[in-house]
Amino acid sequence: MLLRSLKIPPALLLLIVFLFVFGWQLSQGTRHENSPVGTDVIPKDGGEKKAPRIALMTFVTDQRSYLHLSLKNKDHYARRHGHDLILDYESHTDRAVVFWKFDMAERLIKTGKYDWIWWMDFDTLITNTTTKLTDIIDEELRKVENPEEIDYLFTHDCNGFNAGSFLVRGHERSLKFIHDSWAIHDKAKAEGGQMSEQDSTVQLMKDDKVSADRVHVVPQWKLNAFPHEIACFDPDSKAWEHGTFVLHFAGAWAHVKGDDPTGQLMKKYEHEIIWGDWKEFY
Ligand SMILES: *[C@@H]1O[C@H](CO)[C@@H](O)[C@H](O)[C@H]1NC(C)=O
Repeated sequence: MLLRSLKIPPALLLLIVFLFVFGWQLSQGTRHENSPVGTDVIPKDGGEKKAPRIALMTFVTDQRSYLHLSLKNKDHYARRHGHDLILDYESHTDRAVVFWKFDMAERLIKTGKYDWIWWMDFDTLITNTTTKLTDIIDEELRKVENPEEIDYLFTHDCNGFNAGSFLVRGHERSLKFIHDSWAIHDKAKAEGGQMSEQDSTVQLMKDDKVSADRVHVVPQWKLNAFPHEIACFDPDSKAWEHGTFVLHFAGAWAHVKGDDPTGQLMKKYEHEIIWGDWKEFY
């Protein structure tokens, strides 16, 4: 009735409605980038603070039995908390393939899009997707005297630094650490030695106090828990248990017999994952 009395053809009306909705969506378009949904960090000092922009990054360069699970799990977590998931499927480095995580970190830091970048090895699961990474960052930085001086949140296992799950601040200042770690590796290589990204980073923290001071060590269970099958723990000696945030099958081949040790553990622990309700964040 109304349409007829206004004498607007239905097609034109549809177009008007479409333009209106489209325009509104455009005006909302930058919201995601500036304030990821679901990561509202309320500053304890009562001031106004924007939610940190976070990227979760990993790479996988070959076919694996647990490809889908590891990808789905990280994607689910990133969506649930409004983080970006950045994935590489190729590595192009003259160093060992594990060094590619530093190349990725450098690339993401240089975009200036992120406050914190979370590296996860591909043989990891987020086993409690309710836990907010931003809460862990806040909690840990509150433990140090000058939180703004900290660029790296690392964890240890029984051998010291483990590079399987760590955070790097998305700030230009973080680049020097990466470049210095590369330099240590490259020098060793030129002299015929071999170093992993873990080795060169440990060496850097030993050699250079300024770099070491940029690092805060987080309890292993909080960010990089190992299962009891892989009993290589930091001094807290806390193995993964149901409800823990992250599970990392580090060096599973050395602890589990048979074919595909990591795949076996992935299958075993898949059912322990606490998922969110996708309808709330899809
Ligand atoms: C999962 O994490 C949330 C948030 O950290 C926590 O409140 C909850 O107790 C955890 N779940 C279990 C089963 O421990």
